[in-house]
Amino acid sequence: MLADKHILLIIGGGIAAFKSLDLIRRLRERGARVTPVLTRAGEQFVTPLSVSALAGAKLYRDLFDLTDEAEMGHIQLSRAADLIVVAPATADLMAKMAQGRADDLASTLLLATDTPVLLAPAMNVRMWQHPATQRNLATLRGDAVRFVGPNEGDMACGEYGPGRMAEPMEILAAVEASFAAGPLAGKHVLVTSGPTHEPIDPVRYIANRSSGAQGTALAAALRDLGARVTFVTGPATVPPPDGVTVVKVETAAQMSEAVQAALPADAAVFAAAVADWRVANASGSKMKKDGSGAAPALQFAENPDILAQVAQMRTGRPGLVVGFAAETDDVIAHATAKRARKGCDWIVANDVSPGTGIMGGTENAVTVITAQGAEAWPRMDKAAVARRLADKLAAALV
Ligand code: C5P
Repeated sequence: MLADKHILLIIGGGIAAFKSLDLIRRLRERGARVTPVLTRAGEQFVTPLSVSALAGAKLYRDLFDLTDEAEMGHIQLSRAADLIVVAPATADLMAKMAQGRADDLASTLLLATDTPVLLAPAMNVRMWQHPATQRNLATLRGDAVRFVGPNEGDMACGEYGPGRMAEPMEILAAVEASFAAGPLAGKHVLVTSGPTHEPIDPVRYIANRSSGAQGTALAAALRDLGARVTFVTGPATVPPPDGVTVVKVETAAQMSEAVQAALPADAAVFAAAVADWRVANASGSKMKKDGSGAAPALQFAENPDILAQVAQMRTGRPGLVVGFAAETDDVIAHATAKRARKGCDWIVANDVSPGTGIMGGTENAVTVITAQGAEAWPRMDKAAVARRLADKLAAALV
């Protein structure tokens, strides 16, 4: 049941928009309140009158409708809901979302919101399969946007393949699932993510190529299973997910402090690419060439091993401690040794040799090393790795 749930339903411009009328009925039958938004393109497929009549609510169409801004601004409209559903989500809407554009009401609402978003894509099969759309899909998944469909089948345009919008009952099931108490409800999971920056002087630092994509996807997947997630992140290029507590840090020392402050946790996953060393003689002012040709002599000090510290805690250790191992050779042997050395329960090992495109890329091929041995998972996108890992973690925590 969806009693008292408030759904903001954005109807994009696609032939599948007619199915969204049925979706409105189904949502309301289950007790949800539906606030509809119809894009200009959507109006070509369903009429404003049918949408608002079925929703039994005011329909929002225009960003610059000043009455609406006086009654309820777009920021408030985007946040008043418990869930935003976009059905159909066109290739264009996905592209706008992925780019963070805000040139109409729908895209502005989607950019301004901090509410979970569920997309039901619908488009021609070639448009769906186009690398641009697939890139946008990966970006949006990384932003913790959830998807239902598209399905494979005959399309209105006469072609066959993936691109048909999910049926109203499937979308309804995805909506209900997003409100269901997941297997990690009531659990606190700590996730570290991203690189660390170790200063050389106030303007220079030592960093690595970690984008934070895998840790971000993992935090989103754990949140989706109902966990309360504390996400301690270095300066990552991928933005942190919605619906988690984000703690931003720069250096390994700060990350270590933030992790200690976030404990206790039921599980802790260390996906951050923490710098092993910091510059011990970092300068308080910008270092300058002195004309002699002499290069500065940097001295390094070892950073705290945050994973090992937590894994080896005598009291208050999280029930499950998971580390990552980015290796370039002999991945399984090194990762197995690392699991033992650090004292963690699992190591998620991946090969980050330059040829794999994994570090900073959208896909990952991991081997999960536990006390039972090594499990090699096929190469898949980082969101899929995250979901599988979150499921495994949930099964281990019950
Ligand atoms: O030893 P290595 O850096 O390869 O180990 C990787 C694992 O250890 C990752 O889970 C990483 O997040 C964690 N780590 C850490 N603190 C460090 C170094 C690594 O938590 N200083």
